[in-house]
Amino acid sequence: MAQYEKRVFSGVQPTGNLHLGNYLGAIKRFADLQSSYECIYCIVDMHAVTARWTDPTELRTHVREVAAAYIATGINPKEHVIFVQSQVAEHAELAWVFNCVARMGWLNRMTQFKDKAGKNSENVSVGLFDYPVLMAADILLYRAHYVPVGEVQKQHMELTRDIAQKFNIDWADSIAAHGFGEAYFPIPEALIQGEATRVMSLRDGAKKMSKSDLSDYSRINLTDSVDAIRQKIRKAKTDPEPLPLDHKGFAGRPEAENLVSIFAALTQTSVDDVLKEYGGTQFSAFKAALADAAVEHLAPINAEMRRLLADPAYIDDVLQNGAEKAKVIAAETMRAVRDIVGFRN
Ligand code: TRP
Repeated sequence: MAQYEKRVFSGVQPTGNLHLGNYLGAIKRFADLQSSYECIYCIVDMHAVTARWTDPTELRTHVREVAAAYIATGINPKEHVIFVQSQVAEHAELAWVFNCVARMGWLNRMTQFKDKAGKNSENVSVGLFDYPVLMAADILLYRAHYVPVGEVQKQHMELTRDIAQKFNIDWADSIAAHGFGEAYFPIPEALIQGEATRVMSLRDGAKKMSKSDLSDYSRINLTDSVDAIRQKIRKAKTDPEPLPLDHKGFAGRPEAENLVSIFAALTQTSVDDVLKEYGGTQFSAFKAALADAAVEHLAPINAEMRRLLADPAYIDDVLQNGAEKAKVIAAETMRAVRDIVGFRN
């Protein structure tokens, strides 16, 4: 692993029903980064329990599902690291130090917490409020330089940078005295994904595609069969107008915008280019092209995921191996942090 100069870290929650939104918003880019960076991809089960506790057997199944998705999309676990957050205790340990670095005011500004907690903010877990601090610990534990994430994680990335910066400043003297130079933590950068980082429901263009939507027709799951993918796209909500000629024509047409964005993301083009080709055509023709693109892209992933999930022992082996590699780096960081802040090693 030593041939890479810079490190990438990212994480996906094991919440079950991995869908196109999770894929286009995050996982799709992960494999591409492998040739240039040392990549560490985490399955963040400690984040998954911030909203509610899941049945333990189910949680482990969901963890394997994310691992299978990582491998099926081409991440090479021999060369890089795929591991589960809860297997490396240093995540929680560094999060505690960061709890005492981050300020209440910073966390009070987090819009995702406000969205998730809603009117229920007095009754959600402390973990849900503290979620971004744990995320900062995930990233900085590996002193990662780049973090591929969807648009919605931008604010959490800013918080991570603020925590790294404040730690470096508050402990500057001790950092220097312990031989770490001017700063201990690198300031990580978000790599925001391109088109369709926010994939919307196929039944309602105003709602995010979500694993908890009651209608399975609202989402394309990564484990959906070819027939299911085609049928869901055929039945996706649209309006009677033909596709607009440019993106201004999406005003008041969220379903049209969503399908075009998905197509652009799947075919690695821009929304404008898609409209150059399909502007003015009927949805029936466009949906046929979209279904072809989705099947071409997802069918191989889908087949590989099913194959992997049939062999949980293999997946568990990959995860065990990954945890061992992750622990080496995590332990090194925590040893330094303990020295810097005055805890005992
Ligand atoms: N918050 C991220 C999400 O829900 C998941 C996550 C946790 C993460 N820790 C991370 C992403 C560290 C990137 C880096 O999508």
